Amino acid sequence: MTLVLASENIRPIEKAHDRKSFDCGNEALNRYLRDQARQDAEKRVAAPFVFTQPGNPKVLGFYTLSSSIIVMDELPAALMKRLPRYGQLPVTLLGRLAVDGTARGQGLGEFMLVDALRRSLEASQQIAAMALIVEAKNEQAESFYRHFDFQPFQQTPMRLFLSMAEIAKMFA
Ligand SMILES: CC(C)(COP(=O)(O)OP(=O)(O)OC[C@H]1O[C@@H](n2cnc3c(N)ncnc32)[C@H](O)[C@@H]1OP(=O)(O)O)[C@@H](O)C(=O)NCCC(=O)NCCS
Repeated sequence: MTLVLASENIRPIEKAHDRKSFDCGNEALNRYLRDQARQDAEKRVAAPFVFTQPGNPKVLGFYTLSSSIIVMDELPAALMKRLPRYGQLPVTLLGRLAVDGTARGQGLGEFMLVDALRRSLEASQQIAAMALIVEAKNEQAESFYRHFDFQPFQQTPMRLFLSMAEIAKMFA
């Protein structure tokens, strides 16, 4: 299947999106999309975005964004030094990101990640967030995020971050 990687193909999740056959190889992520994502959107505890092809409701990829906070001491010392000592800092959490097995290796994971970075940057101009953070579910996910220059937190290396200043530079 050749994917049309256009930003209008990534939209907030809706009832009409077909989530039943989505399979990224990780059952927890499949179940989340199938059973939980719409409720999270309705209750406004996460904002799930899905990728589909024009005229076909089958979800081929998804990611979620929500607001979060981090404890400042978790950041690398060099970055901490440049920030005010507020104890806790606002961030955006990329909670989940997954691609269906039929759509792998065609740049969709990267395309959705860039879309999430752009959305986070735009939102941070209205409600501040100093980084995008991710919680890698396994080593494959961790290496995916490291590939895109995410840095691990000191005490919890499966949690990674990319500063909003870096993200802003990417889109400058
Ligand atoms: C990780 C995942 C999202 C990647 O999606 P994908 O569409 O196959 O990846 P892409 O085709 O966009 O890859 C883009 C780039 O990332 C690289 N990449 C992909 N997976 C990678 C990995 N696990 N580790 C390191 N690099 C990786 C590709 O080589 C490619 O690099 P290049 O542009 O330099 O050639 C997908 O494999 C997936 O859904 N996995 C299961 C769910 C999961 O673990 N999600 C992670 C967060 S919870």
